[in-house]
Amino acid sequence: MTEIGKALPGVSVARSFGRVATLLAVSVGLPKDVDWRGRTVHTGVWKQPVDGPVMLRRLNLDGDGQGDLGGHGGEQRAVLVYQQDSYRYWQQVLSRDDFVPGQFGENFTVDGLPDDEVCIGDRYRVGEAVVEVTQPRVTCYRVGMRLNEPSMAALMVAHHRPGFYLRVLTEGLVRAGDEIVKLSTGPEAMTVAELDALLYLPGHARDDAARALRIPALSPGWQASMQGLLDQADGQEGNAGLETAAAPPAWAGFRPLTVTALDEETRDVFSLHLAAADGTPLPAALPGQFLTLRLPGEAGPLIRSYSLSGTPGDAVYRISVKQEPHGAAGTYLRANARPGLTVEAAAPRGSFTLDPGDQPVLLLSAGIGATPVMAMLHALAVTQPDRAVWWVHGARDGAEHAFAAESRELLGRLPHAHAYICYSRPGPEDRDYTTAGRITPEVLRGLNLPPDTAAYLCGPTEFMGEITAALGELGLGPAQVHSELFGAQGGLTPGIAAAPAPPPHPPDGAPGPGPAVSFVRSGLTVPWSPAYASLLEFAEACDVPVRWSCRTGVCHTCVSGLLSGQVAYSPEPVEEPGDGNLLICCSEPTSELALDL
Ligand SMILES: Cc1cc2nc3c(=O)[nH]c(=O)nc-3n(C[C@H](O)[C@H](O)[C@H](O)COP(=O)(O)OP(=O)(O)OC[C@H]3O[C@@H](n4cnc5c(N)ncnc54)[C@H](O)[C@@H]3O)c2cc1C
Ligand code: FES
Repeated sequence: MTEIGKALPGVSVARSFGRVATLLAVSVGLPKDVDWRGRTVHTGVWKQPVDGPVMLRRLNLDGDGQGDLGGHGGEQRAVLVYQQDSYRYWQQVLSRDDFVPGQFGENFTVDGLPDDEVCIGDRYRVGEAVVEVTQPRVTCYRVGMRLNEPSMAALMVAHHRPGFYLRVLTEGLVRAGDEIVKLSTGPEAMTVAELDALLYLPGHARDDAARALRIPALSPGWQASMQGLLDQADGQEGNAGLETAAAPPAWAGFRPLTVTALDEETRDVFSLHLAAADGTPLPAALPGQFLTLRLPGEAGPLIRSYSLSGTPGDAVYRISVKQEPHGAAGTYLRANARPGLTVEAAAPRGSFTLDPGDQPVLLLSAGIGATPVMAMLHALAVTQPDRAVWWVHGARDGAEHAFAAESRELLGRLPHAHAYICYSRPGPEDRDYTTAGRITPEVLRGLNLPPDTAAYLCGPTEFMGEITAALGELGLGPAQVHSELFGAQGGLTPGIAAAPAPPPHPPDGAPGPGPAVSFVRSGLTVPWSPAYASLLEFAEACDVPVRWSCRTGVCHTCVSGLLSGQVAYSPEPVEEPGDGNLLICCSEPTSELALDL
């Protein structure tokens, strides 16, 4: 086994004096399945050094591959570089002496090229190839797996030693021992360490984000993060480079609201108007946001979310509830909601909100999914009546068509509005619809949507998948299509092999002694158990869908809505998330919790 902290055998190591750098090892590896905590991870983080020349191509070194192209690889991340000096550093910090070339999942182990000297956009000749620096390495849990050091992803950021990625400008042969010759310095001379700290560590100077955006070589993913930092409102908590920017919730936890009126919308949908107990106007919500109610239930509180369906900015909120057969909260509200009833509500939240720009808007819904887009239609009628709007709604028939008259009246106030109503089973009396049948890709094609349309979708999960794909085929990019799910959102588990997931359930074994944790979207409330290292591990044990990447408080992929309650962090995250959110990978409850998961 070669100790990379010492010079590699057979390689004459040029010192960093005079800025000469050397390629010490070229390592490649194809993805393989690795057992990890009872799951299978498909990963290419295990690399082996190669003797002799290797062809470096636009996407990879020959013989190399990545298991998860969402996070690694591709043109912008064709080669991962890590420095011998960082090996020495970690050997000392971690008291380890077992590192081998490729230990950090890198392709090029180099002497020289420190992260605090190499700049984004620098160009180098290595052997026959010419390469350009595109971004720091994005640390994820797999480097921790490879080193058997779970906090490695956080350590690499906190200690300013991330390493970096290269794009291949000229393909060619490379081999251990090649000199690395600098051809040019990137514009703005922003180092890898500087950029990495700018994104992940507190501070985020706007001027520096603007500087980074002036570097054409910066990868598109990092450009989007820099744009987020640049757009972050003054005083806004959290990291807008890593999480969706949102104003903090208008109040913490739950507060009492009073039902002031009820409307029957259809035979199984009714609306509730909710006001502050003291009659003062409620804080304005954004069009598309939802309210979370905590209601009394036989086996403990029922915590459910409902999109606001009325005019954003009204002094009272309106929610519209579909009573599902045997649905606990719907049945409770149906039986008990009358003027004067007090319910507990968490502040409006959610990032499914209407962009106030002037591009055309498609508001597309099915069934009770009309609620958030109704709020958007109200907002358009009040504040942007000249915007082009396509209102597409699917219902079973006229009797189940919620908000039919209200939406017609609002559309009548919008001179550039188009309406398309689909009834899947119209009754003999029904006249007020465009076609019989469901909303299909053909219906969407017939709308002739302008290419810059912003689409907002809400409806059953399968329907949304089909419609999103159809909009993609019509040329609408992912950034143009926004959707709201009335249930758990899709998980993000990078590299984990797909396996059938059972519906959310209490964890195996005896119930824990801790405070109740409600996973609200999943409809599950379970007592916390300290047998789990974090809320993320607890959610995984319950098969609650979760999103994560680093699992140590760096990347903010696991950021989730904290509807009520308090948590303690361990380890402390590199930067805390925005108000009203938490990082589940490094926190545990210190009180009862309601999470938007
Ligand atoms: C962001 C967001 C916004 C939302 N907006 C709205 C909205 O605007 N309007 C709205 O109505 N809902 C909305 N929802 C959904 C809402 O939060 C509830 O999940 C939904 O209303 C069902 O709650 P429930 O307590 O009535 O039913 P639950 O008791 O949670 O039951 C869930 C489902 O299981 C079925 N079920 C329960 N018990 C039985 C049984 N014994 N046998 C057979 N089937 C059974 C019910 O029919 C129901 O379909 C939203 C959800 C989210 C996450
Ligand atoms: S998974 Fe990266 S911060 Fe939680």
